[in-house]
Amino acid sequence: MALTVEDIVAMCQTALSEHTPVLAVRDVLEELVTRPARLEEALGPVEVGGITTLHNAADLTVLHVAWTPGMALYPHEHRMWAAIGMYGGQEDNAFFRRAPEGLESTGGREVPAGDVLVLGDDAIHSVANSRREFAVALHVYGGDFFNVERSEWDFETLEERPRDFERTARLFEEANTRWLQQQP
Ligand SMILES: [Fe+2]
Repeated sequence: MALTVEDIVAMCQTALSEHTPVLAVRDVLEELVTRPARLEEALGPVEVGGITTLHNAADLTVLHVAWTPGMALYPHEHRMWAAIGMYGGQEDNAFFRRAPEGLESTGGREVPAGDVLVLGDDAIHSVANSRREFAVALHVYGGDFFNVERSEWDFETLEERPRDFERTARLFEEANTRWLQQQP
């Protein structure tokens, strides 16, 4: 039987009742990303980069995210656990922690299709797509992703400021325009 968005959300909701929800969600995503064609059927083909909300509630948010080739999102925090299941392209993560002078680097991780990245609720990361294909993933968060107070940091100055989704939307628009201009 074909997989639907409702199925994906229901699997994540079931995982929330497990003893350690983030690990149960990780297991759900690990299973889902083994079959990328099935996910693409459920979620549709990716033609432009962007964030699509599949589910948003107080205890759970499920997003479909496609990073445009060449795009990079400045450091930000979620203040809730997150599990990111890649099923197309690759996401390059850089990790940070708060420091007297803004942020300091704590390393990075490349997350290719087929991998799941789990982030604790104190994680700070930036994300880049350095490949010439969309980096496509299911992002699952243990809370209301859009209505929690939290920070982002300027890429250059590492100055902390409130998270601004309009700024993120503009980044997607710019990256999509650049990418479309590069197409034959
Ligand atoms: Fe993030």
